[in-house]
Amino acid sequence: MNVRADDLSSQTVFEPPTDLAARANLTAAAYERAATDRLGFWAEQAERIHWQTPFTRVLDWSNPPFAKWFVGGRLNAAYNCVDRHVEAGNGDKVAIHWVGEPAGDTRTLTYADLKDEVCRASNALTELGVGTGDRVAIYLPMIPEAVVAMLACARLGAAHTVVFGGFSADALASRIEDCKAKVVITADGGFRRGSSNALKLAVDEAIAATSVVEHVLVVRRTGQGVGWIEGRDVWWHDVVDTASVEHAPDAFDSEHPLYVMYTSGTTGKPKGILHTTGGYLVQTAYTFWGVFDLKDDDVYWCTADIGWVTGHSYIVYGPLACGATQVLYEGTPDTPHKGRWWEIIQDYRVTKFYTAPTAIRTCMKWGERIPAQYDLSTLRVLGSVGESISPEAYLWYRENIGGGRTPIVDTWWQTETGAHMITPLPGSTAAKPGAAMRPVPGISAEVVDDAGNPVGPSESGYLVLTEPWPSMLRTIWGDDQRFEETYWSRFPGCYFAGDGAKKDQAGDIWLLGRVDDVMNVSGHRLSTTEIESALVSHSKVAEAAAIGASDETTGQAVVGFVILLESAGDGGADIVQELRTHVGKEIGPIAKPRQIVIVTELPKTRSGKIMRRLLRDVAEHRAIGDATTLTDSSVMDLISSGMNNQKDGD
Ligand code: PRX
Repeated sequence: MNVRADDLSSQTVFEPPTDLAARANLTAAAYERAATDRLGFWAEQAERIHWQTPFTRVLDWSNPPFAKWFVGGRLNAAYNCVDRHVEAGNGDKVAIHWVGEPAGDTRTLTYADLKDEVCRASNALTELGVGTGDRVAIYLPMIPEAVVAMLACARLGAAHTVVFGGFSADALASRIEDCKAKVVITADGGFRRGSSNALKLAVDEAIAATSVVEHVLVVRRTGQGVGWIEGRDVWWHDVVDTASVEHAPDAFDSEHPLYVMYTSGTTGKPKGILHTTGGYLVQTAYTFWGVFDLKDDDVYWCTADIGWVTGHSYIVYGPLACGATQVLYEGTPDTPHKGRWWEIIQDYRVTKFYTAPTAIRTCMKWGERIPAQYDLSTLRVLGSVGESISPEAYLWYRENIGGGRTPIVDTWWQTETGAHMITPLPGSTAAKPGAAMRPVPGISAEVVDDAGNPVGPSESGYLVLTEPWPSMLRTIWGDDQRFEETYWSRFPGCYFAGDGAKKDQAGDIWLLGRVDDVMNVSGHRLSTTEIESALVSHSKVAEAAAIGASDETTGQAVVGFVILLESAGDGGADIVQELRTHVGKEIGPIAKPRQIVIVTELPKTRSGKIMRRLLRDVAEHRAIGDATTLTDSSVMDLISSGMNNQKDGD
């Protein structure tokens, strides 16, 4: 956990700017309204969405933890995100200002353009055999086709599962197999940091390991060569560009699956988080509008990748359901120069900007002279997501990007929650740097002790959600039991988020990090077990332990402790590189350990449980904590000396 200064009351407080407060979308009245009639409040929020058949009941919670929201309602998510804006006369409004990584490579899509594209893609997918109730995997770079592909699936009632382009072929294969995706939508490659990375190649490798995929739909992005299987593989430009722009959307039940998003848990097997249609769309639209204080002339930009939940909720569904204009950027912040993000904000006159603390820390390292070269005066609200933002990073962000004027919304939520849950509101919260503050109107959260009782002021405990919410996960794909056990068994009647939190004297919430074996690397979740399984799958490894050690830039970084098989001897001169590369290949580059330490023993309790806490002490160069339950306490001396003899990885 990130331990903070205990005296939280001495922290700076930023009042909302008066002009923003005067026109704020969400004010204190919303908290009151939601507190007096929570379900009535959600019924009002549901009016943001077009229901082909109105719902008859807001919530059915008769069979917890399996919720049904907006019962009996029928709707089409894609219709809500595109068609209805065109029908309302906003077809000429820009939906997406797309910026490719190579300089000058841009596209603009109005809502009318987006509707045509989504209809074409829906017709093409239908031709490929995709129908209501199917699953489609999407493995694309940050190009408009990623948004189009997701909405086309939603339009057909086929659940999408978007896999981050940085994940390996193996990770892609396990996801395809778990949700039985019939079609994979990918590209030849994508541009990243000036070079093109192959995506189709990884798809081919993944499909070879599965038996469910019937077709691969391929967008030409980089022009690089690709392998091709006639009959299975089809080019997007051949089948989508030529398809009709007429497509009548069906209406689906409010609880119809919208997507499955895989995320790391405490075991090696990623969990397929299932989100359904009505409640998810209502809460993403409501929070997007309220937390970013959406106005008609806004130009919004979220830097997340579409492969993560942030991209789903706050690039695709929330902003588009609200008919907003946004920027979509393909590349990295430092390509071709370290001012690229700020240049984009200047060029497109971005007003709302949403990014992650890890990116802010990187920009801090590059120095404030870089953003100072650009005109960022259009910015009105800044957002942060993925991990706690330290007060230092918060102040730097507010000062150097927000010109000392903009409120920062530090939004706490999860893949599982689907949408913002705890966050300051830009027009009504007096925000404290580093605190996520209060649950948004309509959401109920508490910090509890081991026994499930609310903690007192200035005490820490576990963060729980005490009432169901519309965009909550409905289950883990194919595993209701794991869903119940993982989230609902620790504190009966409550959803346990897996995060530690603290309430200050005023009752405001501060997040303290994960309390389980899940690490947070650059705002992305990785489980220790997943990395350990990858390490032990290497032919020279006997046993492995992985931990997340604090890291200046990425928040946490992976450190692996490995015992080699006797037959492997010392593993050879390149063993550390070999193992890092192996993990990168098994899971994806983000999981590549920063450091690997070859050891002869691991610290274990008498019952054989690895004491990762002690390994974390070593990796963070702290005095080793209580080791009394260790079978052999000399092990820690050996590990510490091993650690000091090895350099950090690149
Ligand atoms: O530990 C919390 C942290 O990220 C976890 C959720 O990760 P994921 O499902 O990948 O979703 C990331 C994007 C929503 C949480 O359990 N987290 C996320 N946002 C914050 C945060 N921790 C503190 N403050 C935040 N604003």
